[in-house]
Amino acid sequence: MSETLLVTGGAGFIGANFIRTISELRPTWRVVTLDKLTYAGNLDNLEAVEHTFVHGDIAKRPDVDGALASAGTGAIVVHFAAESHVDRSIQDGAPFLHTNVVGTQVLLDAARAHGVKRFVHISTDEVYGSLPEGEFRDENGTLNPSNPYSASKAASDHLVGAAVNTHGIDAVITRCSNNYGPYQFPEKLIPLMIANATNDKTLPVYGDGLHQRDWIHVRDHCEAVLAVLEGGRAGEIYNVAGRNHMTNLDVLRFLLGALGKPESLIRHVQDRPGHDRRYAPDDQKIERELGWKPRFSFDESMRATIEWYGQNARWVKRALSGEYRQYYEEQYGERLKA
Ligand code: NAD
Ligand code: DAU
Repeated sequence: MSETLLVTGGAGFIGANFIRTISELRPTWRVVTLDKLTYAGNLDNLEAVEHTFVHGDIAKRPDVDGALASAGTGAIVVHFAAESHVDRSIQDGAPFLHTNVVGTQVLLDAARAHGVKRFVHISTDEVYGSLPEGEFRDENGTLNPSNPYSASKAASDHLVGAAVNTHGIDAVITRCSNNYGPYQFPEKLIPLMIANATNDKTLPVYGDGLHQRDWIHVRDHCEAVLAVLEGGRAGEIYNVAGRNHMTNLDVLRFLLGALGKPESLIRHVQDRPGHDRRYAPDDQKIERELGWKPRFSFDESMRATIEWYGQNARWVKRALSGEYRQYYEEQYGERLKA
């Protein structure tokens, strides 16, 4: 059956990869994109992809009403729009409350008024907080967010749960681990380190570098979202994982090896305040119920990702200019002088 999607945050990293995935796997579906085009949004990410673009803020009801009117009754909302970077949330939490909390509530209210068929909320494994070695969290795990970003995402999950319980809306939530792949803004670990290593610049690893993340290729995440959109049970939460646990130092060593650069570029710098030591979502439910599991290997897809950044110099140059320079100085200037 052909569907119409309203994709919020479609000009960002995962949203754009998701729209590309849809155009390939569900070519008859129509996509309306709603995006504010913050520093992280870039319409180049959707170059040559068919979609209707609406420039607007999810926290502003008239913007959301306009986008939902364009999508029409019976559309499916896929909600990626967010302030997404932990370090920025430590600098200033206000935009995180505006978009992740207020924006999600505005979207939920508007979705109800416009007769949306299903609301797919994209959340994160960070809502479970930092886990001890050897422990994994399934969807029944207690929410224990520990930085302003993850607290705002946990709040948004609760708002979605409240809308299901109170108004009976058909909503599903995904909670994925750390993504990598093309079109990721170079404030995040992988593209930042690829850019620095390529330019023979220092790789600033926070603290002892032994923090662990579960890395997943963005295409795997996008296919998981599609599986949940089509087959997830209403009101349910589905964890999504890469099943690939690595310390940050191991990730950096891999990148340097692949780029043929020396490990002496790595520099330990002042840690991120409140830095979560380890995320480890348990993703058995999505495999059991929907048959999804990650299919991309870290080694091969990370090499392909490095190649993508190498081949897209114009995209990288644009991302590294303008506001990014000021952000980089604020975030790393003192750390690298110390
Ligand atoms: P991103 O920062 O690359 O993109 C966010 C997009 O949202 C941008 O296009 C931005 O312009 C848009 N946006 C921000 N505020 C908006 C607003 N008020 N109204 C409309 N649009 C707005 O983020 P990402 O890494 O692609 O993450 C997408 C979603 O996936 C987020 O909800 C994030 O919490 C979640 N997530 C990310 C990861 C990851 O590893 N990146 C992992 C799990 C979950
Ligand atoms: O787990 C899912 C989450 O993953 C998503 O919800 C977030 O949107 C996404 O930003 C990501 O959060 P992290 O904080 O884990 O990702 P980040 O890329 O910022 O950092 C990954 C790890 O690398 C983390 O332990 C901090 C460390 N790091 C990061 C940067 C940018 C460094 O050591 N140095 C750095 O310069």
